[in-house]
Amino acid sequence: MSFSPRHPIKASEGSPYSRIYGMSGYTPSRIVTNEEVCTWIESSDEWIRTRSGISTRHWATGEETVEYMSVEAAKLAIERSGVPVEEIGAIVVSTVGWFTQTPSLACVIAGDLGSKAAAYDISAACAGFSYAIAQGDALVRSGAAKYVLAIGVERLSDLTDKSDRSTAFIFGDGAGAAVIGPSDEPGIGPVVWGSDAEQGHLIQQVPHWPQAVDEGKRPVLVMDGNPVFKWAAFTVCHYAEQALAAAGLAPEELDVFVPHQANDRITQAMVRTLKLPESVLVSHNIANTGNASAASIPMAIEALYQDGRVHSGETCLIIGFGAGLVYSGQVIVLP
Ligand SMILES: CC(C)(COP(=O)(O)OP(=O)(O)OC[C@H]1O[C@@H](n2cnc3c(N)ncnc32)[C@H](O)[C@@H]1OP(=O)(O)O)[C@@H](O)C(=O)NCCC(=O)NCCS
Repeated sequence: MSFSPRHPIKASEGSPYSRIYGMSGYTPSRIVTNEEVCTWIESSDEWIRTRSGISTRHWATGEETVEYMSVEAAKLAIERSGVPVEEIGAIVVSTVGWFTQTPSLACVIAGDLGSKAAAYDISAACAGFSYAIAQGDALVRSGAAKYVLAIGVERLSDLTDKSDRSTAFIFGDGAGAAVIGPSDEPGIGPVVWGSDAEQGHLIQQVPHWPQAVDEGKRPVLVMDGNPVFKWAAFTVCHYAEQALAAAGLAPEELDVFVPHQANDRITQAMVRTLKLPESVLVSHNIANTGNASAASIPMAIEALYQDGRVHSGETCLIIGFGAGLVYSGQVIVLP
């Protein structure tokens, strides 16, 4: 189909590439042990550790709201990036834990940071941080924003049914942020992402909000864990392979692998599929934090920085997957 504007218009021009300038993770203060979980459900520390890899998870206190955790993570990432707040042109927040339809959490955070940036929320569950990074990369390269603040934040404890033995031990809370900006060299690889709505019923909020309000009860997350496990371990692992190849890296050229911290057995299956050599540092942060959905990847990277195990310039493959079903992964160069 031909396209001929009556009057030619100008288009935005961005940077050829983008990179991450600063990152951070916020881990909430309350530690919930497997022993405590076993006071809610019939289970054992040994079962939880062997089936999921989780020893403890962090749950937010009353003061650690999604807004508070986001702003703490954002301030640290901005400080580390060296980018003035006023130069941030867009704020993208991924969460399933902001229970206000409007205004968005991103707008509230913008206000807290004293920013006038474009601000919007996305809903991509446990793939959310990678989705937000992909958005940031695209916005910087299109010229829609010079710098982008990408945030993943969750309070899954608000959506956890403490009496459901198939989910009560899994979920955690937290936040993470990244400041993305222009670069002369590629600092964010091509995203490999997608969805599989046919399996959407496997992880759901039950019931929907209108029904919950009518019935006067809170909705919770319900998960059919076993098929989700198989999808992640046998299908999503190939998307991780594709993301690595799309960045032009061989497994031995990768420095760090930080998959969404959903289950350590999924991480191990991915390591096998990717044929990662022992030189690649793999995050097993789930042992401490549980599954913090959109926050899990930046929290895991923060933990590696805190332990002095990762360094600026290293290549890091991230891959998120979860409710939707959705998945998303790319290679990033650590700031
Ligand atoms: C949730 C998960 C850890 C469960 O592990 P699993 O090996 O699939 O376990 P199953 O659900 O098949 O159950 C196995 C057995 O353990 C039992 N079991 C389930 N929950 C239990 C618990 N909390 N404690 C003790 N036993 C439990 C089951 O009843 C079942 O017993 P049976 O064999 O006698 O019937 C795992 O499926 C998982 O991690 N799924 C993926 C989660 C994920 O990636 N989510 C995506 C992002 S949100």
